Amino acid sequence: MSELNKIALKILSNGKGILAADESTGTMTKRLESVNVLSSAENRLLFRETLFSSESMKNCIGGVILYDETIKQLTNSNKSIPDLISSAGAVPGIKVDTGAKVLAGSPEEKITEGLDGLRERLKEYYQLGAQFTKWRGVYSISNKYPSKLSIYSNAHALARYSALVQECKMVPIVEPEVLMDGNHSAEDCFNITSEVIKKCFEELILHKVDLSGIILKPNMILAGANSEKKTSNEEIAKLTLKCLRENVPSDVPGIAFLSGGQSEVEATENLNLINKNNDTNFIMTYSYGRALQQSALKFWSKDIENTEGTQKVFNHRANMCTLAAQGKWSA
Ligand code: 13P
Repeated sequence: MSELNKIALKILSNGKGILAADESTGTMTKRLESVNVLSSAENRLLFRETLFSSESMKNCIGGVILYDETIKQLTNSNKSIPDLISSAGAVPGIKVDTGAKVLAGSPEEKITEGLDGLRERLKEYYQLGAQFTKWRGVYSISNKYPSKLSIYSNAHALARYSALVQECKMVPIVEPEVLMDGNHSAEDCFNITSEVIKKCFEELILHKVDLSGIILKPNMILAGANSEKKTSNEEIAKLTLKCLRENVPSDVPGIAFLSGGQSEVEATENLNLINKNNDTNFIMTYSYGRALQQSALKFWSKDIENTEGTQKVFNHRANMCTLAAQGKWSA
C-alpha cells in the first residue's frame, strides 16, 4: 500500500468524511454577512476553530480542507490550525487552486487557475502540515455548454495539479463540479458528468498520476435547481452509482461528494441511499461545505461566544453524515 493510499484511506474509512472549510475570504464574507456577522480575520477563525475543536472531529471528520488564511492562523492557545486538526485524529488539507476565471475561447465558461508557482506553494503547505489538497473545476449545463474546450482544459489542469501534488507527497482531491444551476434534467446531468469524469481520468492517466493516491470529489447526479421534473432520491442514488461505476477506474480508493447547494438533509439522505445501494468497491462518503456548516453557522451567528451550543449543532450534522456514509441513517 503506498503512503498516499494510506492517507486517502485514513481520511475516508469507517464512515468518516471531509469538512470542506476552504471558503475563500470572498465566499466566507458572503456567508458571514448573510447571518449579519462582520467578516474579520478574527471572526472567520473563531467560527472555524469552534468547528475544529468539536467532539465529532474524532469520530466523524477524517479530513478538513483549509484555506490559505486559516492554515497560517493560530488558535486561542497558540496552536497551529493543522496541529489542532491532527490532534483530533483528522488530516489537515488545503485548497490550492486560485479560483475559476473566464475561459479564453469560450468566455461564458470558466477555467480554474493556480498552476503557476504551484510546486513552491505546495512545498510550503506541506511544511505547514497539509497532507492533502483540493482543486475544483466548474462546469455549467445549458443548451450549448459545457463545451469540449472547457471539459478538456479543466481536465488538463486537474491532472497537472494532481501530478504536482503527488510529487510533493500529498493526496490530491480531484473535484470536477458540474453545477446544479439551470433547468436541465437528471439525465442531462448524468450524460455530462459522465463525459467530464471520463475526460479527467484520461488526463490523470496521461500525467502518470497514481490513482490509488487520489480522492475523487464529484457532484451527485441531480436535476437542475430550476428543473420542473422532480427526481426521486432513489433515482438520484441509482444514476450517481451508475455514472461512477462506468467512469471511475477501480484503483481509486474513494469518492467524497460535494453538497453543491443541496440542503443538509437532502445531502444526507442522498448519500445514505447511495451507500445502501453501493455495489462498487469505492468508499462513498462526504466532503461537504454548506451541508455540514449551514445550521452551525446560523446558530453561532446569534451568539458567537456560544462555542458549546454551536458544536452541538455541528456534531449532530457530522454524526448524520457519518451514518449516511455507512448507509445507516434514517430520518
Ligand atoms: P459544498 O459542499 O458547499 O458544495 O462545498 C464543497 C466544496 O468544497 C466545493 O468546492
